[in-house]
Amino acid sequence: MAGDILEIGKWLRQEHKEVSRLVAGLRKVAAEPPKGYAKWLEELREAFKEFHARMLRHFELEEDGGYLSQVLEARPTLSDRIGLLESEHRQIQMLIENLHPALAACRSDDRLLVHDCCIRIQVLLNCIRDHEAKENELVSQTHSTDLGAAD
Ligand SMILES: [Fe+2]
Ligand SMILES: [Fe+2]
Repeated sequence: MAGDILEIGKWLRQEHKEVSRLVAGLRKVAAEPPKGYAKWLEELREAFKEFHARMLRHFELEEDGGYLSQVLEARPTLSDRIGLLESEHRQIQMLIENLHPALAACRSDDRLLVHDCCIRIQVLLNCIRDHEAKENELVSQTHSTDLGAAD
């Protein structure tokens, strides 16, 4: 089982590297609107759509035959932590979905609404960063427990 978990750890690190590149890109776009920002607002909406699609794929890969079920199989006692991560997937998806209408409703001169969207995106990205860190920790703990058990 240690070998399987090692492979899962490698896959998850690679997958998270891609996600964190996308998070960094979106964080930069949503940092603070430039002056006269109609074009920027369009870019933000596009970047957010792209980000949404990639995150959905990421969660699907993690849940459907991905690492969550394999970690659960290897360590049934971790079911609470796995359940929490699955619940966070659902909550993060809701945070993302709730932002689409807010972004769509902004006109380019709605500085307060745009500012609010930017803050909500930063909060969302922080939630995702923390979630991914918990996943990395779970897999590396599962792997080291397996190695310990093999000794
Ligand atoms: Fe996840
Ligand atoms: Fe993840």
